[in-house]
Amino acid sequence: MTRFPPVLTSPSRPGWETGGLVLDSPLMLAPLAGVTIPPVRLFYSRLGASATHTEMISCAGLIRTNRKTAGMLQVLPGEGPVIVQLFAGDPDTLSKGAETALAEGTLFRAVGINMACPMPKVLKKGAGARLLENPDTAFAMVKALTRFGFPVWPKIRKCPPGYPLTTEEFCRGLLDAGASLVCLHGRTPAQRYAGEADRDIVARMAKMFPGKICASGDVYSPRDISFYLDAGCSSVLLARGAVADPFLFARTLAFLGYDVHNIYGNPSPDFQILLLLDFGDGVSALCGQRMAALFAKRILAGLFRGMAGVGGLRRAAASVSSWTDLRGIIEQSGEYFERREKYSGCTV
Ligand SMILES: Cc1cc2nc3c(=O)[nH]c(=O)nc-3n(C[C@H](O)[C@H](O)[C@H](O)COP(=O)(O)O)c2cc1C
Repeated sequence: MTRFPPVLTSPSRPGWETGGLVLDSPLMLAPLAGVTIPPVRLFYSRLGASATHTEMISCAGLIRTNRKTAGMLQVLPGEGPVIVQLFAGDPDTLSKGAETALAEGTLFRAVGINMACPMPKVLKKGAGARLLENPDTAFAMVKALTRFGFPVWPKIRKCPPGYPLTTEEFCRGLLDAGASLVCLHGRTPAQRYAGEADRDIVARMAKMFPGKICASGDVYSPRDISFYLDAGCSSVLLARGAVADPFLFARTLAFLGYDVHNIYGNPSPDFQILLLLDFGDGVSALCGQRMAALFAKRILAGLFRGMAGVGGLRRAAASVSSWTDLRGIIEQSGEYFERREKYSGCTV
């Protein structure tokens, strides 16, 4: 048996169409700067994400052939469908960056445009959420990318009062310019990541533009996700909820009626250890020991939920800073799970 069998046991449903792609389900991993590096995407594809996003990638960096930026275009063997998300402040820079990102042989399946980032260093370049204030530039950017022949997925936020266009007008403009899907985060730029996301505006846009809206914002539970799908959203982005609970994909797929492999539906400590070791090895190979320890600790915080003894493991992990040391602790972590015989779903 393969160590990581597919999450869906039988392809009991036809593929799920969203944004010009046919995927296994409507549940995707959101773009997360500093998080969705290749081994993280591989980890979540294994855990049931039907597609994943890169971090937002600077087109100016790609044009300058900055080595770090170019490295962000890497896709690992075994990853599922990946959407590359780009950012720039004007159509020309975006187009030139896209030429590199979408060059022949690329493994990306669609191209995203970040029109949502509220951070000052992105806004001051006229990129991210600044584009909500410059609709003509935003629409020209979508149009500029359509020539590459990939589905174009701008990601935006709710447009607050005082902006040139309403959210509805902005979505319409993007779709008229050739976008295949609009990913809509129901927070305003001023909210950044705080406060509640406005789910109702996402639901209203989904009714207004059937099959064209992908939902984002406050996605923490299967119920949050089915709210968006019931409202008519074409797909849903899992972001902080998936970081906090890596099994949110599998739990939601089961909740939605998909046939989910028991190894993910009822994950044993042994299986979670295996996932974590493989994950840390992957990050270590790409980014080195320190980063691997940091990433593995972040993932560890969401794994082993509710299992007796996990506190001891987390405390031991907090005391080390290299992957080699953390790996040793994780390998021995069986001793922390006092009641492991309770979990029977694993045959690895
Ligand atoms: C750490 C972090 C990094 C993010 N990076 C990006 C990014 O690179 N591109 C983007 O479009 N959105 C980015 N986002 C926004 C998320 O994709 C998502 O829209 C947002 O977190 C709302 O979903 P949530 O409330 O379910 O977390 C980021 C969010 C966080 C918390």
